[in-house]
Amino acid sequence: MTEIENKIEHLKKLLQEYGYAYYVLDKPLVDDAEYDKLFNELLELEKNNPALITIDSPTQRVGGIVLDKFEKYKHQTPMLSLANAFNQKDLKNFNDQIYKEIENNNYNFFVEPKIDGLSISLIYKKGKLHKAVTRGDGIYGEDVTSNVKTIKSIPLVINDKDSYVEIRGEIFLSKKEFEKINKQRQLDEEPLFANPRNAAAGTIRQLDSNIAASRNLDAYLYYFMNRQKVETHLDSLEYLKKLKFKVNELGKLCNSIEEVIEHINFISEQRLQLNYEIDGVVIKINNFDLYEKVGYTSKFPKWAIAYKFPAEIKVTKLLDIFATVGRTGKITYNASLEPVQLAGTTVQNATLHNADFVMQRDIRVGANVKVKKAGDIIPEIIEPIINKDFEALKKFSEVKNCPICKSTLERVDGEVDQYCINISCPRKLIRSMEHFVSREAMNIEGLSIKIIEKLFENRYIKKISDLYKLENHKEELISLDKMGKKSVENLLKAINKSKTNSAEKLFFGLGIRHVGKKTAQLLISIFKDLKNFKDLNITQLESIHDIGPTVAMSVVDWFKNEDNLNLLNELVSLNVNTGYLGQVGSKFNDKISNKNFVITGTLSQPRNYFKNILEEYGAKVIDSVSKKTDFLLTGTDAGSKLDKATKLGVKIIEEKDFEIMLGEK
Ligand code: IVH
Repeated sequence: MTEIENKIEHLKKLLQEYGYAYYVLDKPLVDDAEYDKLFNELLELEKNNPALITIDSPTQRVGGIVLDKFEKYKHQTPMLSLANAFNQKDLKNFNDQIYKEIENNNYNFFVEPKIDGLSISLIYKKGKLHKAVTRGDGIYGEDVTSNVKTIKSIPLVINDKDSYVEIRGEIFLSKKEFEKINKQRQLDEEPLFANPRNAAAGTIRQLDSNIAASRNLDAYLYYFMNRQKVETHLDSLEYLKKLKFKVNELGKLCNSIEEVIEHINFISEQRLQLNYEIDGVVIKINNFDLYEKVGYTSKFPKWAIAYKFPAEIKVTKLLDIFATVGRTGKITYNASLEPVQLAGTTVQNATLHNADFVMQRDIRVGANVKVKKAGDIIPEIIEPIINKDFEALKKFSEVKNCPICKSTLERVDGEVDQYCINISCPRKLIRSMEHFVSREAMNIEGLSIKIIEKLFENRYIKKISDLYKLENHKEELISLDKMGKKSVENLLKAINKSKTNSAEKLFFGLGIRHVGKKTAQLLISIFKDLKNFKDLNITQLESIHDIGPTVAMSVVDWFKNEDNLNLLNELVSLNVNTGYLGQVGSKFNDKISNKNFVITGTLSQPRNYFKNILEEYGAKVIDSVSKKTDFLLTGTDAGSKLDKATKLGVKIIEEKDFEIMLGEK
C-alpha cells in the first residue's frame, strides 16, 4: 500500500467508527468539528486520487445523483403488511388462533414498537449494499438506492459476504428533524409536511438524492431474511446489531399474551418521550420455525399483528362553521377551531362533511368539541361537550345559498349532499381548473390554486381553454404580484407541454361526472380520440365490460351539450391533443398491452400478482371468458373457463409461457 492509500484507509476506518457511534449508537466519540475536519481531509485526498474511492467511503453518502424516475423492482419475497389489533380482545383472539395451531403450545412473542415511517428492503450482495427498495404494492417496489445511501445509520458495506442478503426495516425521520425541515419550509413559503412519516416518504420519493442527503433520514432494521443463519426474531436482531445496523432497544421477549399486554403498556408510556414517532406495537412469534405452521391469510401473516394506539382525542372550541363549494358544486361544511396540538401537528380546521353530519351530532358554534384525526390525517369532530352553557348556544342550521355565487342550493332526492347548480359559479370553475391541471389530469406544474384564483380575479381565465391563450398575456402576467418572469415562463412552458398529453389525461381533466381516471383510460384506449365521442350512444358504451349505465349516460350527456362541444373544438383549434397516444400501463409489450386476459386455476402466486403485472403492461384482466378474450392464463385444476376458452378458440397459455411472453426468461 502506498502512503496515500494507507492514509485514506485510516481516515475511512476512523470516520466509519465515529459515524457508527454517532448515528447508530447515539454515543458520539468526537465533536462535530473533529469529524468534519477528518471528513474534509478524506474528501480532498479522494478528489486528487479518484481511483481510490470505494463504495464504503463516508464521502459516498452526500447525494449528487439525480434520476429521471425510480425503476420498478420485483421483491424476491413479497413485502406483506400486518393485520391490526385495536384492543385487548383483538390481541387475545390473535393468541387463541396461534394456540390452536401449535401442538405443544411452546411459543413466545417478541414485542417491539411499530415505527411510523415507511418500510424498506435492503439487499446486500457480497457484503455491499446493492439495492434499497420501497414496499410499493408489496410485490413491486421502487428502487430508491441513491436516496437510501445517504442514510448514515445504514452501512454501505457489511461483514456478511453472502452472495445475497436481504434485510428489512423502517425508514423514518426523528421528531426533531421533522420540525427542523418544516421550520425551513415555512421560511421558504413551501407547504408543510403533516407529520414525520409524510416528510420521510416525501424525501424518499425525491429523484434528487441531494435532498435526502440534506434531511438526515434514519432507519431501524428488524428483519433478517436468511433463515439459515438465525432461528428466532431475537437472533436476527442480535445478528443485525453485530452487522452494525440500528436496532430498536424497546423490544422484549414475552412469554404470554398477558406479558405482551404489559409490554405494550410500557411502550405506550414511553411514546411521548421518544425522539421518533411510533403508531403502535408489533407482536411477532419469536421462533421462525413456527411461522409456516401458523401460516398466512390471503393478505397477512397470522404469526404477527400490529397493535395500533387509539387515535389521540383533544377538546377545543369550535369558533365557526362555514360552507365551501367543490368542483362538482358539492357543499362541504368545515369547522374552524381554536388551535390545538393533535398527534404531532397544530390543528385549526376540521371537516364536518355535510349538514346532516352536523345536525345529527348537534354540533354548535361556540361549543367545546372533541377532535381526532381520522386515519391520523384529516381532523374530524367527534361530538360536542354538553355542559351548562351548551343549551344557550344557537342550533346549527344548514345554508340555503351557495357561499360564493349565492344561488339557491339544491339537494338530489335521497342524497345527503347539497349542490350549487349554477354552471358559472366562480368557485366551481376555479375548483374544476384545479382538477384540470392536477397531476393525474393534465399535469401542469406551477398552477397552484392561489395562482388560478389570481388569474380568475384578473379575468385572464374564465374557462379551461383560456389557459392555452395565456401566452398572449405574458407581459401582464409577469407584472402580476409575486409572479416573476422565470415562473411565468415555466408556467407557460408547462401549459404548452400539456397540449401533447395522451388524451386520457384531458378526458379525466374535463371533470365529467363518473369519469374517473380508470374509466377515462379505458374509454380513450377503445375509441381513440375525444372527437369520436359525440357520435357514441348509450348502448355502445354499455357494451363495454366495466361500463355501466350511469357512466354511459353521463358521457353521452356531456358530449351532447353544445357548450361542451364548443369547448372541445376550441381546445382542438388551440392544438390540444385529443387522441390516444399509446398503451395505458407504464410498460409496453406488443403481445400483452391492450389485450384481454382471463386468469384461472392454481398458479404459483396469487391471481393479483399476475393481474398487477398485466395491468402494468396495459392489458385488461376480465373475470369471464368471451369472444373478446385474447388469452386465458391457466394454472393447475382449471375448470369451466378452460373448457369455454377451448370452445371459443381463445389462446391458452400456462405460467411458463407467460414468463416467456414477459421476456423474463
Ligand atoms: S414487522 C410481515 N416490525 O408496519 C410484515 N413492521 O403493517 C413484517 N413496521 O409494513 C412487518 N415497525 O412497514 C414490523 N417493528 C416493526 C415495524 C413494522 C413498523 C411497519 C412495516 C409494516 C407495517 C405493518
